Amino acid sequence: MPTLLRQHAEELFAEELTELQKTESGKRPANWQLTPQSVVTYLIGGKLKNGFDITPKYIGNRRLMEIAVATLTTDRALLLYGLPGTAKSWVSEHLAAAISGNSTLIIQGTAGTSEESIRYGWNYAKLLSEGPSESALVETPVIRGMKDGKIVRIEELTRMGADVQDSLITILSEKSLPVPELNTEIQAIRGFNIIATANNRDKGVNELSSALKRRFNTVILPVPDSIEEEIDIVQRRVASYEKTMELPVEKPALQEIRRIVTMFRELRNGVTQDGKTKIKSPSGTLSTAEAISVVNNGLAMAGYFGDGQLKAADLAAGIIGAVIKDPVQDNIVWQEYLETVIKTRDDWKDVYRACRDL
Ligand SMILES: Nc1ncnc2c1ncn2[C@@H]1O[C@H](COP(=O)(O)OP(=O)(O)OP(=O)(O)O)[C@@H](O)[C@H]1O
Ligand SMILES: [Mg+2]
Repeated sequence: MPTLLRQHAEELFAEELTELQKTESGKRPANWQLTPQSVVTYLIGGKLKNGFDITPKYIGNRRLMEIAVATLTTDRALLLYGLPGTAKSWVSEHLAAAISGNSTLIIQGTAGTSEESIRYGWNYAKLLSEGPSESALVETPVIRGMKDGKIVRIEELTRMGADVQDSLITILSEKSLPVPELNTEIQAIRGFNIIATANNRDKGVNELSSALKRRFNTVILPVPDSIEEEIDIVQRRVASYEKTMELPVEKPALQEIRRIVTMFRELRNGVTQDGKTKIKSPSGTLSTAEAISVVNNGLAMAGYFGDGQLKAADLAAGIIGAVIKDPVQDNIVWQEYLETVIKTRDDWKDVYRACRDL
């Protein structure tokens, strides 16, 4: 069997999910693979009664996960909302994996997403030869989720046109999808619900219609509060990436991760950590997700083109690439930060040199 580049959460964490099932007590909602309490443990991490360790998936406020999970037991759908890179898609995948044992019923919202990709389409060859029939109907992930009582994920809900979004209204309020061509309807069985994600930064976004808003509970995923929390997230994600990619490189020094996270937070917040120096923010979002990929990128550089140990020189290109999205404006912001902040820090001399040399 060829090795997959990326496994689905329910496969990657199959052992954790089984252990949770074995040790839990309490009632599972219909068609749920775990109790709501176990789903939260799966997300936040913890030690089970039998000593088994559950790794944290979401690092942050437990209460937010409780609210998200509780919502999914009700007749309201869940909207995960927030800045880019705040783990909306990540949490959505893990919720679906833990609740339904399947995170793959997914629709990607784009400006081109059509109603057919939410409701149903037709196999035209069959439609022409047989006319409209059950077997000519092409099921969408939404239909499969309704029929099997599973969680369906909709990514970037607000990138779809308002009319397309509105095709969810009947599904969410009536829990049914009419198929007028067959004079029938598909009724959802228990366990079905929807988790949508939406980003409040992307431009050209359609607003969520108010009719739809009332059918969703919104949970806002915040940018990590403290620098320590953000370092912890980056460290854990990088460690798991390193493991899967088998990079010929040593574990990155905490110091390197701390510097990247500090830089990103300062640029994002427009002020240095000590609160003393105001700086300009670049146009892009320097999210936790970006910090993770800069470190991953640096590890590849260090492993293949460096000495196997992550150094400032391996990270420089990635940092600049993340900060400078607009070649003119962001370059000014970056140069200023480089000269007024990075240069003045004694233990950042290597970063200064590496970035200046590029
Ligand atoms: N609080 C957090 N806990 C755990 N992982 C996090 C956290 N914040 C960010 N991450 C990591 O950041 C990465 C990106 O997250 P994800 O793709 O889910 O972001 P997103 O909110 O969906 O962003 P976008 O709006 O761009 O789609 C993931 O690998 C995730 O592990
Ligand atoms: Mg996302």
